[in-house]
Order: sequence, then C-alpha cells, then structure tokens
Amino acid sequence: MTLRTLDSLGSLEGKRVIVRCDLNVPLRDGVITDDGRVRASLPTLNTLINAGARVIVCSHLGRPDGAPDPQYSLEPVAQRLSELLGAPVAFARDTVGESAKDAVASLEDGGVVVIENLRFNPGETSKDEAEREAFAGQLAELGDVLVSDGFGVVHRKQASVYELAKRLPSAAGLLIAAELDVLDRLTENPERPYAVVLGGSKVSDKLGVISHLLPRVDRILVGGGMLFTFLKAQGHPVASSLLEEDQLDTVRGYIAEAQERGVELVLPTDVVVAASFSADAAHEVAAADAIEETAFGASGIGLDIGPETAARFAEVIRGSKTVFWNGPMGVFEFPAFAAGTKAVAQALTEVDGLSVVGGGDSAAAVRQLGFADDRFGHISTGGGASLEFLEGKKLPGLEVLGWA
Ligand code: 3PG
Repeated sequence: MTLRTLDSLGSLEGKRVIVRCDLNVPLRDGVITDDGRVRASLPTLNTLINAGARVIVCSHLGRPDGAPDPQYSLEPVAQRLSELLGAPVAFARDTVGESAKDAVASLEDGGVVVIENLRFNPGETSKDEAEREAFAGQLAELGDVLVSDGFGVVHRKQASVYELAKRLPSAAGLLIAAELDVLDRLTENPERPYAVVLGGSKVSDKLGVISHLLPRVDRILVGGGMLFTFLKAQGHPVASSLLEEDQLDTVRGYIAEAQERGVELVLPTDVVVAASFSADAAHEVAAADAIEETAFGASGIGLDIGPETAARFAEVIRGSKTVFWNGPMGVFEFPAFAAGTKAVAQALTEVDGLSVVGGGDSAAAVRQLGFADDRFGHISTGGGASLEFLEGKKLPGLEVLGWA
C-alpha cells in the first residue's frame, strides 16, 4: 500500500480540514528559539489555504501531564505561524472545548486557527485505547477531513496521530511525503560507505537504535551523552560524566557485534572535561582513557568530544557517501562545548553524497551554530521518528495513512 496523499481527499474548498502538525519547538522564556518545525509546516498549510479550506491546526508541545500548563501553550507558535504565513491566525484556548468550537465555527474559507496543545487533554497520549478513541471522537467533530503532517510524531500511537486518522478521511501532508522520499533513500540501497553519527542525551533511547543499525550500515560514530557508557564498557573511568551503568553489558555486546559484522565503530579518543555543568565551567581536554586524571578528578564531567575525535569524525564523515546524523556531540548550547557538534555539522556539509540531519535537537544545533538549511541534503523534522524509520520499525502514524 502506498501513502495516501492530499489529492486523495478531493476538493477541499469550504471543508474543515484538521492538520496534525508537529509544532513542538524549543522555547526559552516563552520565545521560540528554533522555528524550523513551524517553517516546515508551511507548504501544506499554504496549499490548503490556497485551496479554500478552513484550516484547523493542531499539535503537541513538550510533555505536559495531560492537563493545561501555560509553559507549554501553543500561543507563541500561533503568533509565529501568523508572521510566517503573512495572514491572521486565530488561537483557541482549549483543544475540543467551547473556544475551539467557536473558533472553528468562525473560520472562513482559507482561514486558519491553531487549537491549544493536544497534550493538555489526557486522552491524547493515554495508554488506554478507549480514552484515545474518545478524544479522537471529540477532535473529529471539529473537522471534515484530517491531513496528517506531523512527521516528528508518527512513531507515537496517540489519538490525533492514529485514532483520528482512522475516524476521518485522512491523508499525509506534503511534509510527511517529503520526509519519506529522503528517508527511503537511506533504507533502500544507500550509496556506500554509509555512516550514522549518534549523539545527544537520550542515552537509553539511542542505545537500542544501534542494534538495529548494525546490520545496515558501514560505520557508526558515537558522541554525545552516550559515549561515556561506551568508554566505561571499554574499561575507562568516566568520572562524573553521564553514564548508564545498567547498559554496560548491552554496550559490550554491541562492540563485539560490530567487530563480527565488520562495522567500523568509531569511538572518541579524547573528551572535553569540565569542572561542572555550566557555560563558564573550567575545562580541559583529556584522553578518553584518562578522564579522571584532569584537575577536576572524579568530579569532572565530559561535555564534548575532544579535538582529536572531532577531526577523526569529520574525516570519516567526509569519506562517506551517505551520512545520517542524530544528536549533538556535546552541550552545544554552551559555546565552550560546541566545537565537536560544529565539526560534525561542517563535515556533513562537505559530504559528496547524501547528508541527512535528523531530529529537533540536531536541527536546532546546526541552525544555532550558523549553518543554513540548504547546506545539508535534508534536515528531518523527526528525531525519534526518523531513527525508528531507519531501524525499519513500523510507525503507527504512517501505517494508518496507507504506508507499508
Ligand atoms: C519530538 O520532538 O521528537 C517530537 O515532537 C515527539 O515528541 P515526544 O518525544 O514528546 O513524543
């Protein structure tokens, strides 16, 4: 089965079209620090506006606990969307309550409303299918059809992603279609050598990815928070760096399996160690097997890959024909610990082949470090979603749109 696309919905003029986007953007003090996901939603929204649809945009933001929480309000996102569309965007202060119903009823053809964070309702993320169904039923009353375009959330079996798509006539938006076009090229006969660069701080999430990737890739480069679990597994002390003790045996298994399969596992040979987790912390470079031998002793914290590692990673990346990168190499938000991430980003721009940046954090990192989007083959809006896609997992939010 193939993905149902927008044309399958027929004429949308005058129809109430719910668009499930992933507008889960990073915010600091209520200000959006990277609007990449809002921009990525524009092609579909403009297409619907031009088709005369009445557009009802919905999304999650962060992980509120199934109840309204002002720090996760989508209001700043609605404002940004209005600026980017160059048109007014109404905002509803609830998801399926009076405010949302009134705002939808007031929509004119080509008009847009953003409803409040879907995760303010417990039914959105409930583990109980009946609760998700009930919330999807309430959402369905707002619209005539669903355009699912939140690629970053297609790996979640959640009410607006899955149950709603079964309830209403539904199709994928242009963002999902574009993401799949590129990610497909990474799974169907990627040009070799094929390298995957993994970093970030969601350590246990990413460790699982490695076992799925080992049979598919030629090189895996490990940086970011999870590198310390690898160094420890090799017998090196890691001082007070991020460590998942309970994953050590698993990681030893990966190291052995990589060797058996002939996959090059490129691990850091040096690390930037800091006195504490802060932007202005004293820091020094230590060899990967001497992290406890800095001036900070056992209280040192590794916050970036070291310069020798960064140079080696850059060389391996530039020498690959297909590269997928997910997760910063260090705490790039602090300039003193951004060099590793910057070196990897720079190397990706020099790949003679397909380079893909996956994930909210990595996408935010490249933009914050000053790299323009068009220097990469593709910047995916999905972090967990793109990884699970590459792992070959079935993603509920895609299956429900006909993707098999
Ligand atoms: C993401 O940021 O990866 C997506 O928006 C999904 O968010 P979640 O991990 O909270 O489901």
